[in-house]
Amino acid sequence: MCGIVGYVGPREAAGILVEGLRRLEYRGYDSAGIAVVNGNGLEIRKAAGKLSSLEQQLANAMPHGTIGIGHTRWATHGAPTTPNAHPHTDQNERIAVIHNGIIENAGSIRKMLEQRGHSFHSDTDTEVLVHLVGEFYQGSLEEAVATALREVDGAYGLAFISEDEPDVIVAARKGSPLLVGVGEGEYFIASDASPLLEHTRSVVYLDDGEMAILTRDGYRIRNLETDRIEKPVNQIEWDLAAVERGGYAHFMLKEIFEQPESLWNTLRGHLLEDEGTSRVTGLNLSDEQIKQLDRIVITACGTSWHSALIGEYMLEELARIPVEVEYASEFRYRNPVVDERTLVIGISQSGETADTLAAIREAKLRGARTIGLVNVVGSTIAREVDGGIYLHAGPEVGVASTKAFTSQVAALALVALRFARLRNLSILQGRDLIKHLQELPAHIQTILDKAPEIEALAERFVRAPNALFLGRGVNFPAALEGALKLKEISYIHAEGYPAAEMKHGPIALIDEMMPVVFLAPNDAVYQKVLSNMEEVRARGGKVIAIVNECDAEVERLANACMAIPVTHELLSPILTVIPLQLFAYYVAVRRGCNVDQPRNLAKSVTVE
Ligand code: F6R
Repeated sequence: MCGIVGYVGPREAAGILVEGLRRLEYRGYDSAGIAVVNGNGLEIRKAAGKLSSLEQQLANAMPHGTIGIGHTRWATHGAPTTPNAHPHTDQNERIAVIHNGIIENAGSIRKMLEQRGHSFHSDTDTEVLVHLVGEFYQGSLEEAVATALREVDGAYGLAFISEDEPDVIVAARKGSPLLVGVGEGEYFIASDASPLLEHTRSVVYLDDGEMAILTRDGYRIRNLETDRIEKPVNQIEWDLAAVERGGYAHFMLKEIFEQPESLWNTLRGHLLEDEGTSRVTGLNLSDEQIKQLDRIVITACGTSWHSALIGEYMLEELARIPVEVEYASEFRYRNPVVDERTLVIGISQSGETADTLAAIREAKLRGARTIGLVNVVGSTIAREVDGGIYLHAGPEVGVASTKAFTSQVAALALVALRFARLRNLSILQGRDLIKHLQELPAHIQTILDKAPEIEALAERFVRAPNALFLGRGVNFPAALEGALKLKEISYIHAEGYPAAEMKHGPIALIDEMMPVVFLAPNDAVYQKVLSNMEEVRARGGKVIAIVNECDAEVERLANACMAIPVTHELLSPILTVIPLQLFAYYVAVRRGCNVDQPRNLAKSVTVE
């Protein structure tokens, strides 16, 4: 999604803004631009396409000035063209804005402004908004923005500057994240922490309905009713190196290889070995409340939805609580049956996914308790839920989610363990699960050490037009995740199915061009999965088997076999998914795809 960065202070703004936009590239975008106030007025540069196009323009004419705003746009209203790129200006071209989100009543405001003589140069809702601010401007940018925001519906993260007030940035948030960076005699605004980290770690998170007024002397937070709100300054723990590639060819590869560590960071401090349970105090649920739960609904999107499905198996199997998993986009518009004895768990790497946030708000409205399993600290979902667990997987920059997925499954295991011990899991069973959790980082490393084998395997399937991923039980969601990884970064059409469903339709697709990836750890349904393999083999399909042991039978059935370490059945997706992530990565690289920023995708989907 779009990215915002703004700067006011003693230094030249343009370079800081462009560097900030580079840090925001991972969010996905299709045009970029900056505005700087210099001694003569506003200077704006913008270009469709990648940041390099903007940089080419800047190479010829760098704007000078010590206050400015910059934006990477991911098109919503209007095509990804230069006129539609941000910043946009008001009718008099004295105020500039950058905007993440959507102004829903832009159409009617535009008509009203056209009747008053305004003319527009873009198709965007954002230009309409800044014209409205210009219309209200009477010498105070802050007041004009506040007045305009009372008139608009929709979601926004906004930053305005004006050539009439060359010391002020006015920012506002509703539904789209923004944070203020507090430096030494300089201040920043950004849509996430990545552009701030090389300048400051001190940040103030804005909440919905709040505005930030940044000047050279300080900052002030307010809302539309109150002139000043006191908010805490938070310290960001992630350092810049953590968001850089660290020697790997792509962020995705780096993040796949970080999993032994990121997974341990999720588990660290939560395992109570003696008692065979987990300590997850952040859930803010008493033992009594947990015992009284009737059911659990887990809601999420995409990869996070796949981890939710694994959570369903874990919670039902271990804690014997009925669980339903809902796409957040569906849940939010249904009439869901939830009440105060329902626990609604929202899972989100970014903590900003619009549908997941809306689903959680809907659940809260209906009296359910909500918890979040979220990676990004201070994100909106993390702040709105009643309790939760931070994944502590570290920043995930590659658009395709990898380490967040394994950490989500680990966090679900922590929740399931605590709930199960309060209901019907014995201490010995609890200790057994903990032992297996503790072994996982080393097991993941064992699989990562075999990356060259997977790379060679990927080489053989690089021209496949389609692929199937099959698994049973808890590895069915892992199969869905393997298919999603492959399709989103390599653009090969891939589907995941429960293995036995194959004969109810997908088997018709199988021919010698079709790789069929089986997830078949040695679990309760292992023998049945082998029969499914036999069926594929009989029809000429190319079988890739992920198993615990490449024994003679598997060797007979599979064209390629990969052995992974044995773990607790319910934890096995954390291991089976690793070769699938690597497989998708290597296939996509061989096909020349942009692995970290696949076409049409954004890291954080903050519009519905
Ligand atoms: C796929 C992927 C997406 C996200 C989905 C939800 O690799 O990353 O499917 O999982 O957009 O995002 P979060 O977890 O940030 O809510």
